[in-house]
Amino acid sequence: MIIKPDGTVRRRVSALVLQTLLDKDYRLIAFKEMKVPKSLAKMHYAVHKEKPFFPWLVDFISAAPVLAMVFEGDDVIQGIRDALGATFVQRASSDSLRGKYGIWAGINIAHASDAPETATTEIALWTEEGGLKESSNAEDQAREYIQRYISSGSDFTFELRNVVKTAIEHNDTSTQVLASLKDLFSRDAEGISKKDTDTLSEVVFDFIKEEVQKKS
Ligand code: CDP
Ligand code: MG
Repeated sequence: MIIKPDGTVRRRVSALVLQTLLDKDYRLIAFKEMKVPKSLAKMHYAVHKEKPFFPWLVDFISAAPVLAMVFEGDDVIQGIRDALGATFVQRASSDSLRGKYGIWAGINIAHASDAPETATTEIALWTEEGGLKESSNAEDQAREYIQRYISSGSDFTFELRNVVKTAIEHNDTSTQVLASLKDLFSRDAEGISKKDTDTLSEVVFDFIKEEVQKKS
């Protein structure tokens, strides 16, 4: 599973997601914070390569760091997918992780493998191309991460949803919208460069512009 850039740059959100999953008693056997190279992003999402949203999705997942990890356990795939909730944030139930912390549509904080076969392929891919490694202290690293970030101020979900929704509703693609995204994505992004949170903001802004264009 991967906590996508919109989750990772909000340190509190990624800590809350990790906490929820660790509470389920799965074993965490690999854990790594990393920027995703475009080449890996394209391979990871190869199944979607003919879809209209593919180029955007590749830009999104590679915009800023992610947390890549491997969980092991009984029914872990279904368990994690259930915890995440529906793909589209506005369709995810309000007690699911995407329902609680997702921003809008496919800006949905996390990826999870959808079957044992895809999990096997994805783990091999992220091992070879992303340097993800099994490690006996993965769980300790995750607990340290949670401890460090769980109590940072706000998760900014409400504010970010508001910026995206309002901009789309009012066909507002002004630079003020981009400035608000840059501000909000940098607020709880300890250890992540301004360049990366700005890039993520641009990608979310591209999504807004496409939605506005679709309406006209
Ligand atoms: O991530 P999940 O397996 O739930 O959904 P998917 O259908 O495999 O799509 C992969 C990702 O593409 C989603 O998580 C969204 O981030 C994105 N997506 C999108 O932006 N717009 C769509 N119409 C469908 C998917
Ligand atoms: Mg999928």
